[in-house]
Amino acid sequence: MENLKLFYEDALIPKNRILKTAEKLRTEIEEMRNAISRGYDDDRASINLPDDDEMLSTVKKVIEEKLSLKPEYLVVIGIGGSNLGTIAVQEAILGKPYNLTDPPIKVLYADTVNSDLLSSIIKIVKPTLRRNGNVLLNVVSKSGITTETVANFRILLDLLRKHKKEYRDYIVATCDRDSKLWRLAIKEGFTALEIPLKVGGRYSVFSPVGLFPLGLLGIRIEELLKGAKQMREACINMDLERNPAAIIASIQFIHYKEGKNISDLFFFSNDLESLGKWCRQLIAESLGKEFDRDGRRVNVGITPTVSVGSTDLHSVAQLYLGGPYDKFTTFISIEDSRPRLHVPKMNGYSGLVPGIDGKSLEEILSAILEGTKEAFRKDKRPFIEISLPDKSECSIGQFMQLKMIETMYLGHLLNVNPFDQPDVEKYKRETRRILAGEEAA
Ligand code: PA5
Repeated sequence: MENLKLFYEDALIPKNRILKTAEKLRTEIEEMRNAISRGYDDDRASINLPDDDEMLSTVKKVIEEKLSLKPEYLVVIGIGGSNLGTIAVQEAILGKPYNLTDPPIKVLYADTVNSDLLSSIIKIVKPTLRRNGNVLLNVVSKSGITTETVANFRILLDLLRKHKKEYRDYIVATCDRDSKLWRLAIKEGFTALEIPLKVGGRYSVFSPVGLFPLGLLGIRIEELLKGAKQMREACINMDLERNPAAIIASIQFIHYKEGKNISDLFFFSNDLESLGKWCRQLIAESLGKEFDRDGRRVNVGITPTVSVGSTDLHSVAQLYLGGPYDKFTTFISIEDSRPRLHVPKMNGYSGLVPGIDGKSLEEILSAILEGTKEAFRKDKRPFIEISLPDKSECSIGQFMQLKMIETMYLGHLLNVNPFDQPDVEKYKRETRRILAGEEAA
């Protein structure tokens, strides 16, 4: 099995300086190694998900049970850390236009509260329910009390109840044990899948949050976990030069300290755009903090942006190459260049764009990426490149695990807690108060 590769010659930071910063991570890498033996009793708990055979077998049992109901649709109801990872992996593996390829089970996502979105979902699944076909609802909420998720769940549950006497069989609730949603699920007789308490939303893709819906859609979840586990080993390596998470975190930290507070993830693969959105949440929520670990007001944070090549070269490249020197770029490319589609040779067409006759689209995209990197180089715009061998479950598992551990290391370098989100909780509390008609405190 091939591994993801990291190239950082164009980071515009001498290697000895990167390694000097990485030295500051030694204690945290030690902590990370220790966390492996502590199971879920550590803030870094998510790194142990790929080892949890019991969880995997529970999830697989539920998948088998729900597949026997022959569902035609799966609706994932959740937001933020409760659906971004699932969407990211689903699109990376199955492709963005998955639902249009006539798969055995189609997937829909209900996240924000929006009548247009919910009405479309209802319109899509209703004909199936009317002819007695089956629709599964997977309500995912760690806290079990997120306003949008609960509102959407109630609307879709109401629909299901109207069409199915045994509607309970078609509901899987994924949440913290003993959350209000968990208790409701048990009382109502829904299937409940547990998220380990210390695994936060944005770190939960390898828990039942991601594993259940992804496995149900036929994605090889063992391979995803295998990739994650391999990458975890690399990212706890004390030989810092061979530790990709420590290297990337150090590079990002140095650039951040020198004023490059925008981190652009530039995916040269259309199907990885949602993986970018997952990374965006991970970086923003984990590192954007008002206070540091010592309680000092610091207001730190790296602003993550997501670009897709080559599409966004026609949208933001002018800014990236001509605008302020406030960005650090990570190009993410796919090595697997098995040619699939070629530009056909046609008389009279060669003059339009010379040099593309007979070339595969992969060859053309690769030339565009090389051209982009060269332009960045000439302009002294710092970048690194992460190259995935392919878009398999294992490679995506490796990439996601790398990003999660890298973010934890960045939290250590920035001296902030990468596991909490006190300011997100602020808006959630205020929203609940307004909806309950209570006065401001
Ligand atoms: O990562 C996080 O903590 C958040 O993005 C949450 O996942 C999001 O707010 C949804 O919360 P919950 O899963 O509790 O419904």
